[in-house]
Amino acid sequence: MAFDLQNIVRPKIYNLEPYRCARDDFQEGILLDANENAHGPVPQALLNTSLHRYPDPHQIQLKNAIAEYRNKTNSCDNIKEELTAENLCFGVGSDESIDALIRACCVPGKDKILVLPPTYSMYSVSSSINDVEVVKCPLIVEDNSFQMNTDAVHDLLKKDPLIKIVFLTSPGNPTGAKIETSRIEQLLQSWDKGMVVVDEAYIDFSGGSTAALVNKYPNICVLQTLSKSFGLAGIRLGITFSSKEMSRVLNAMKAPYNISSSTSEFALKAFEDSSLKAMEDNAKKINTEKLRLLKRLTSLKNVDDEHVGGLDANFLMIRIKDGDNELAQKLYYKLATESKVVVRFRGNELGCSGCLRITVGTPEENDILFREFSKILAELTAA
Ligand SMILES: Cc1ncc(COP(=O)(O)O)c(C=O)c1O
Repeated sequence: MAFDLQNIVRPKIYNLEPYRCARDDFQEGILLDANENAHGPVPQALLNTSLHRYPDPHQIQLKNAIAEYRNKTNSCDNIKEELTAENLCFGVGSDESIDALIRACCVPGKDKILVLPPTYSMYSVSSSINDVEVVKCPLIVEDNSFQMNTDAVHDLLKKDPLIKIVFLTSPGNPTGAKIETSRIEQLLQSWDKGMVVVDEAYIDFSGGSTAALVNKYPNICVLQTLSKSFGLAGIRLGITFSSKEMSRVLNAMKAPYNISSSTSEFALKAFEDSSLKAMEDNAKKINTEKLRLLKRLTSLKNVDDEHVGGLDANFLMIRIKDGDNELAQKLYYKLATESKVVVRFRGNELGCSGCLRITVGTPEENDILFREFSKILAELTAA
């Protein structure tokens, strides 16, 4: 393989010198270098904090804690080098990380990305914002596996040298299905014209992260987030794992203070042993509830008795009998307006006709969802 990052990343971005501030060299003393407010923060309640200071642009302690956890839980074989802080870059949620990758690799009005529908919509949204065309290669939906169609992806990539990023969502959203690591490795070994981005937003609900592969292959970036398994959607922290070379580029191009002091303080606490245990315990509870809810929902008369896609994330997709989109949409609407239970209608996504995506809640919430779901479905089909 002749992968060369300099051929993938836009030259001006590859050669960027990161923003430097006096604080990179000196952190102590009377700090009059960054035009902060020496009187401290308002309101008064924040006076004892250091929120009047700019946050640390590098967050090495947090990066080390995350790398250590992912090394401990690594499931990939034949990885000689462990993850270190130098493999990580932070974003304001994965959504910012997705945008950064597109900006780094795709020349607006020229280059393209490849997505595998049905998939997460932000890849296309970010592409439109950046004037980058989106090419689509559907997942295999006919057998309900929602796996990557490896041959079709290879053919498309061979035909179109302007594709610079392939976005794989694993576990998928809305499919809930992981993409087999062997298929991902096959792609990494055979395509050297761009980056394979594996979005692992839901990985802690099933395990088997590919993050460690960034030290085996130069052409993979792995995205994770604290928004799902860690229950920290409000702090907005996304993580990109990549080769040290790519990580240097991503860190150089990000806004220097994109991660707030409060975000990194909460995130550091989330990687303490007791929090990690709580995160894993919660994921187990969610998985148990997912199966309980699935069994109940699929036993209903007007719901397909097989779920759609996989069970690798913290949600499930169920299909109304015969893929009836009209009925699914009515059910979705009445659930939200009459029962105040909000799920997601996904019936217009490829291979998802008649489907609702339901996030697994607490046992009490799931009981209410089931009660209201069965009641409204019975009403709607009574006539
Ligand atoms: C596959 C996938 N990636 C990324 C995100 C966004 O994550 P974040 O909250 O870190 O921006 C989501 C959120 O729903 C998602 O489903």
